[in-house]
Amino acid sequence: MPLPKAELHLHIEGTLEPELAFALAARNGVSLPYADEDALREAYRFEDLQSFLNLYYELMAVLRTERDFEDLANAYLARAAAQGVRHAEIFFDPQAHLARGVEMGTVVEGLWRALGTSRDRHGVSTRLIMCFLRDESAESAMRTLDAAKPYLDRITGVGLDSAEVGHPPVKFREVYEAAAALGLRRVAHAGEEGPPAYVVEALDVLGVERIDHGLRATEDPALVERLVRDRVPLTLCPLSNVRLRTVDTLADHPLPAMLDAGLMCTVNSDDPAYFGGYAGDNFDAVRDTLGLGEDRLRELARNSFLASFLEDEEDLRAR
Ligand code: HPA
Ligand code: ZN
Repeated sequence: MPLPKAELHLHIEGTLEPELAFALAARNGVSLPYADEDALREAYRFEDLQSFLNLYYELMAVLRTERDFEDLANAYLARAAAQGVRHAEIFFDPQAHLARGVEMGTVVEGLWRALGTSRDRHGVSTRLIMCFLRDESAESAMRTLDAAKPYLDRITGVGLDSAEVGHPPVKFREVYEAAAALGLRRVAHAGEEGPPAYVVEALDVLGVERIDHGLRATEDPALVERLVRDRVPLTLCPLSNVRLRTVDTLADHPLPAMLDAGLMCTVNSDDPAYFGGYAGDNFDAVRDTLGLGEDRLRELARNSFLASFLEDEEDLRAR
């Protein structure tokens, strides 16, 4: 039995496996510039975050209808459940779809067809987190928040993703203020490729409750002290860090040192179709390569529920 866990850092568009990409391409009459699934897999060699994002956005062309988003989410939830995920807080990138002429309602309602039945069907409770693309303008983010207003009963929080360097959190101050006023929870990617100062800004300016990645926070001892003191959860993604070359090899990953320092770490998959593993695979990899023992693995799993947006006691007791 895999360890029960919550997944808190997962981009639903990053769960698009080559098989499903080709099936959806055929269903929607979209042509992909790859001869077959193997040729597509060959493209999964990334230099950095941007080289991954180029393919990630390109493949989204196959996602067009509610049913496509439903199928995508159901495929993820089934795989996650098989690896012990009992609760998933799922990111989506509406601007990447709106820009292709796919409406907010198509994305949210499509995802909801799967998320709304997930507890019964997969044994996985869910939350939906809408991310803003930080390499787009703040005005575009604000328009996206406006477009989401009819769907706020389905959306728990907002996040910030895409190309980090050169796009500091402060750029999104107003949109995060507006999101908070709407009662939305707040998270942001920071310290993946960007400097520790972006982590500080995400906390101080955007008021986030968790930091997605936060790996580079380790470069600033005063920041580490603050994150430990305030129990700020970090949603780490070890296999992603290897594939995007944020660390040289998994053996070099600072997770054990971060846990030893008292940081509230969680382990997640980020974009599992692209990075070689789902949540349980990431747990297995850190166990096997970083030598984390049972106690540490249980700590990571416990942290994942504590850091989640599950609110009522009943939800937590059900774990
Ligand atoms: N970082 C930033 N943006 C992203 C990622 C990531 O790991 N995955 C999908 N969008
Ligand atoms: Zn991410």
